[in-house]
Amino acid sequence: MNLLRDLQRLILLTLGLWLAAFIYVIVDDADVKWHKTPTPIADSGVIVGGDKDDDFDKIVNGIHVQTGLVYDEGFDIVRATCTACHSAKLVTQNRATKEGWRQMIRWMQETQGLWDLGEKEPLILNYLSTHYAPEASGRRQNLDLAAIKWYILDVNEK
Ligand code: HEC
Repeated sequence: MNLLRDLQRLILLTLGLWLAAFIYVIVDDADVKWHKTPTPIADSGVIVGGDKDDDFDKIVNGIHVQTGLVYDEGFDIVRATCTACHSAKLVTQNRATKEGWRQMIRWMQETQGLWDLGEKEPLILNYLSTHYAPEASGRRQNLDLAAIKWYILDVNEK
């Protein structure tokens, strides 16, 4: 029954690979960067690479590089407030209307210990609903059936 055992091994191996891929994706999503932060140590003992302080305020094409947040009015408050507990990725990955963002904030306040944002809240909501609004629907237009020139496919045609 060697064949059966080989087959079992193969299945286990496949499952293992899937599990590894799955874990990799989850870990990646959770923004755990341990596997991505190269901190090579030069001979001098100086750390090269890794977190560069000069990147802290770098803006490229209107995007604040370090956080990935759009650099516009309200950015400073949002960076200060919304990256205190988690990565800014959670913000930039989400899209919602102003009401939707308000609900997310309420949810964090009720369940995650987010404090009262006071007079900053309208500024934050403006920023979020301006730059992270629900995307315009990506659906294509309906086909105009009448405008299509139908033809019969002749497989014998030279
Ligand atoms: C007091 C800590 C704290 C602060 C400050 C905070 N959050 Fe959160 N937030 C959380 C926690 C905890 C979660 C859940 C994280 C998870 O699921 O991994 C979360 C999740 C989220 C999510 C994902 C919600 C979902 O449905 O998956 C978004 C979006 C978000 N936060 C946006 C913001 C914004 C915008 C701000 C700034 C106004 C902010 N957060 C400030 C604690 C905080």
